[in-house]
Parts: sequence; structure tokens; C-alpha cells
Amino acid sequence: MLKQKKILLAVSGSIAAYKAATLIRLYVKEGAEVKVIMTNAAENFIPALTLATLSKNKVFVNLFEGDTWSNHVMLGRWADFMLVAPASCNTIAKMANGICDNLLQAVYLSATCPIFVAPAMDEDMWVHAATQRNILKLNEYGNIIIPVNSGELASGLIGQGRMAEPEDIVKMTKDFFKIKDDLLNKKILISAGPTYEQIDPVRFIGNNSTGKMGIALANECVKRGALVTLVLGPTTEITPNNVNIIRVKSAEEMLNACILNFNEIDIAIMSAAVADYTPNTVATHKIKKKEDFFSIELKKTEDILKHLGGIKTSEQTLVGFALETQNEEENALKKLKNKNADFIVLNSLQDAGAGFGHNTNKITIFGKDGSINYFDLKTKEKIATDIINTILKK
Ligand code: CTP
Repeated sequence: MLKQKKILLAVSGSIAAYKAATLIRLYVKEGAEVKVIMTNAAENFIPALTLATLSKNKVFVNLFEGDTWSNHVMLGRWADFMLVAPASCNTIAKMANGICDNLLQAVYLSATCPIFVAPAMDEDMWVHAATQRNILKLNEYGNIIIPVNSGELASGLIGQGRMAEPEDIVKMTKDFFKIKDDLLNKKILISAGPTYEQIDPVRFIGNNSTGKMGIALANECVKRGALVTLVLGPTTEITPNNVNIIRVKSAEEMLNACILNFNEIDIAIMSAAVADYTPNTVATHKIKKKEDFFSIELKKTEDILKHLGGIKTSEQTLVGFALETQNEEENALKKLKNKNADFIVLNSLQDAGAGFGHNTNKITIFGKDGSINYFDLKTKEKIATDIINTILKK
């Protein structure tokens, strides 16, 4: 998987810099070529000579050396991927804010390859709001954050912030290149998140959906080579890269965006929590409080899944969700039939860890052909893999 891959390892100043030696050895063993960049601070923790010897390549530290200039643009272009490990708190902060005061930052800013970041620091620094915001920013830039471990830290304290073990980092980067192409160039439409139905200029009717499941599905489909359009309701979740994102607010806007894109679609997965009712009229001005009791007249929204079920061709696959709190199987099967879907993914709020806001979910998939597949509680990323595998088995 990593044979002949060109890896740019960027080492910054952290006690975990000693693990860079193991990383290089593991990558070289995989048949990869490794070039190393270090910050000046990193040199306090591990000698450049060690890393140069192990990588069999010159280690780059400075933008200028004597009368030579390190071509940071070419280094970033040479690599199949860049791995910043360890990424110290300071290096992460600079990367997040575009500060370019050393070779590592110059290469980071000009790199066109995928970038992995393996943070390493003390727990207090790791959990600080500034660091967490910087990590979110890197994620938004499309960088892949390698989760920190919990354990003994350089300070002697026990907590979060330890850099992931080299073996795990190698596995993560390996998995990244293990992209299956079983959805190559397939066009996939995904709806995700809540909808907001405006009552007046300051209020709306919404729901607790975060869109995490739909976002995980979008990521999974992209990884497998698909061209994804994500119709996304209001959410603050980090959105995926390489996806055509259409931001919508109301059920009506979501319906229109889905219809507009449906014709060319091979697979549509409707995971959004769409409002079933919307105010009959939207007040032009803020509604003032007067009576003790107050009601709003609501009208039914159009069911997007059902609409698509009515116009889909035999070439198109339509997948819906069913969020239930009781009579789960019976309700899911009704939705499968009434909405003319090919699959219904059932999740029940009765299951701990399933449904809105959680990073995990527990699902059962009902197929039009009578198939039923039960799955354990898993992360939404793994659930996304299960859903796509089930659809493709059809
Ligand atoms: N759905 C939709 N448009 C709507 C309502 C729901 O596309 N106006 C889709 C959802 O995205 C989901 C499926 O229909 O894929 C089922 O949604 P769910 O909320 O579980 O059920 P409802 O059909 O709304 O029925 P009920 O609220 O009675 O359970």
C-alpha cells in the first residue's frame, strides 16, 4: 500500500520527536521513501543526523542555508502525503493561522498533497479552547487529524495529549490509500441535518439533528470514489471536503435542491431530519406576547423521500431513514413501502448511543427484497461503511 509512496515527515518540537525515528523505520520497511523536515525546536529533541541516517535523505531545517534556498514548493509537490508528527501546540497554532516563519510552515502552506497531523502536547495545552479551535480549523482546511492518546505525559501527569503510537499512525496513513473504487464516478445525493421552519423573523421550528450521520456517509462515498452532492440543513458540524455542498434551511428549500439534482443521481440517501410541518404563514414582524395560550397553524411539508420514490427510475437506488421511538420494525417497513424506497435504515431512540447528536449509532437496514440486516452500536463512520456495503451488495 505504501510501497514507493513519497512521504514528507515534518517533525516539530515536542518530546515525542523521538518517535519520528520509529516512524521513518516503519515507513522505510513498507518500501516508502521518506524526506524529513524539522523545526529548530525539534533539533533539541532528536538530532537531524539520526533522521537523515534512517531516511537516507538530507534533513531540511531552514528556508535558507548559506547561499542555497530550500525549494519548499517542490517539497510539497514531491510528496504523496505530508505527515506532521509530532505536531506541537505552537506548530499547530501557526498552521491554523497561516504563519510562515520556518521551512515547515512554508512547506505546509504550499503543499498540494494530503496532510496528516499527529498532535503531541500536555493535556492542559491540548484541552485549551485555543488549541481545540486550531484543530477544528485544520480539520476545516481538509487536514486529517490523528487522534491523541491518553496516558503518561512528559510532565509526569496522566491524561490526553500523547502522540499516537507510530504503528497506529502508519496504519492510519495506510488505510487512507486503501481507497476502494467501488463507487468510482457514481453520483450520490445525500440529505442531512435538520430543517428550520421560520415562524417570524426571529423564531423557527427546528429539531435536534446535527447532520453527523449524513456527513459520515458523504465522507465514506467520497473515499470510495463517488461524486457526492450533500444537501445540508443548518448545522455547525465540520463539513467534508471534495463534496458539492448545497446549504439549505427549510424543508421546502431541501426538497427543491434534492429534486433539482435527482435526475443524474445513481444513489440518493435521505438522512435529513426534515420538518413534517411548517407554519401556514410566516409573520412579517416579530410576534408579540399577549394571550396566555398561543397556537400556530401548521401545514404539512412535502415528503422529499416519497417524492423521489415517485419519480425514481429502476436504475436509481433510493435509501431512506426511519427514526422511531416505538413499533420500530413495523414503522420502518411501512416507510419502505409507502415511500417506494429500496432500503430503509432504522435507528431507534430507544437504543442508548443511537440517534441525534451522538457520534455512534445502532441501525437495522430493511431492503425492498425482504432482507433485514442488524448492526451493533458503532461510530457513525463505521455505520456509514455498513450502509454503503449493504447498498452495494444489492
Ligand atoms: N423525510 C423526507 N421529507 C419529509 C419527512 C421525512 O424526506 N418531509 C425522509 C427522512 O429524510 C427519512 C424518512 O423520510 O429518510 C423518514 O423520516 P422520519 O422522520 O423517520 O419519518 P416521517 O416520514 O417524517 O414519519 P413520522 O414522523 O410519522 O415517523
